[in-house]
Amino acid sequence: MKSVVIQQPEVLVIEDRPVPQPQAGEVRLRVESAGICGSDVHIYRGHNPFAKYPRVIGHEFFGRIDAVGEGVDTSHVGQRVVGDPVVSCGHCYPCSVGRPNVCTALQVIGVHRDGGFSEYITLPAKNAHIIPDSIPDREATMIEPFTIAANICSQMHPGPLDIALVYGAGPMGLTSIQALRGVYGVKQIIVADRIDERLAMAKENGADLVINNTDIDLTAELAELGIRPTLIIDAACHPSILPEAIGLASPAARIGIMGFSSDPCVINQQGITSKELTIYSSRLNSNRFPMVIDWMNSKKIHPEKLITHQFDYTQVVEAMEIFEKDPKFCCKVLLKF
Ligand code: NAI
Repeated sequence: MKSVVIQQPEVLVIEDRPVPQPQAGEVRLRVESAGICGSDVHIYRGHNPFAKYPRVIGHEFFGRIDAVGEGVDTSHVGQRVVGDPVVSCGHCYPCSVGRPNVCTALQVIGVHRDGGFSEYITLPAKNAHIIPDSIPDREATMIEPFTIAANICSQMHPGPLDIALVYGAGPMGLTSIQALRGVYGVKQIIVADRIDERLAMAKENGADLVINNTDIDLTAELAELGIRPTLIIDAACHPSILPEAIGLASPAARIGIMGFSSDPCVINQQGITSKELTIYSSRLNSNRFPMVIDWMNSKKIHPEKLITHQFDYTQVVEAMEIFEKDPKFCCKVLLKF
């Protein structure tokens, strides 16, 4: 089989590898499509602290089960499935309280173990989620990015009284906007980004008001508009954002962060406690695939709006370069296998 392998930072090779055999409790997928995420590019460029090389990248993938290991019902062969990249031990403290996404022995497919940019992949059967026929292949490939939004929203409980502010209109911001609009029905969605084309996408994906905060003070702008956000999602993840969000939030607001920057940011207790703010963090997803499949099946979200490009997997280098260098016009890139 052909696999997209990052042999070491900056060295991407399409390798011939033996087709893997599913072990007990596993299924094997014939991968049909996969999505490129920023973290794939970070592994390619050597900027992902968790990656070990060589690595087959890809954690957003869709395909058909073509073989099963011992103990897995053979009736699953032929089913259309997406893979949940979160592989967890099942018995540590986080796993015991329903948070396998922060398992003490976490293995993320495509990061800690070989991923879905490959013609075949094996994974635990419980990580393979069956896709109803009503969801087309391309949309199914987009389920994983929406699970990130599902995870943060499940923690923050958005509701109809909420005035939401989303920082960043990349894939993570746009999936969050779609969920806030289509699933949770918040009162108003404001989006801040530094790229006008991305803000236009935010509007198409459900934002009511968009603000380019390149040259303006967002806190002052919102104050002038009389807006005090009650729910803030940081999907831009710059360290300067959390202190700003604490300052401009309404009393009793919730703030959700998703970033992995190791740079410090300065916050103070008074800013949080005086307004009794709640700060959530969210990593990957904890069993949110069924939730997103249901959202997609009932047309509450519209994944096609994010897909701007599609390539054959043999053009993966070109696809990654466009993804990296063209944020004005490129959002989600799919690879066909
Ligand atoms: P992206 O780079 O495509 O989008 C980020 C957007 O934020 C860009 O449009 C950029 O112009 C905008 N931005 C940057 N600084 C800003 C600022 N100060 N104010 C407003 N907008 C600003 O990235 P993507 O794929 O949407 O991911 C966003 C972040 O989420 C990344 O940092 C990524 O590491 C993180 N992430 C976290 C996950 C988790 O499970 N916690 C999962 C996936 C991504």
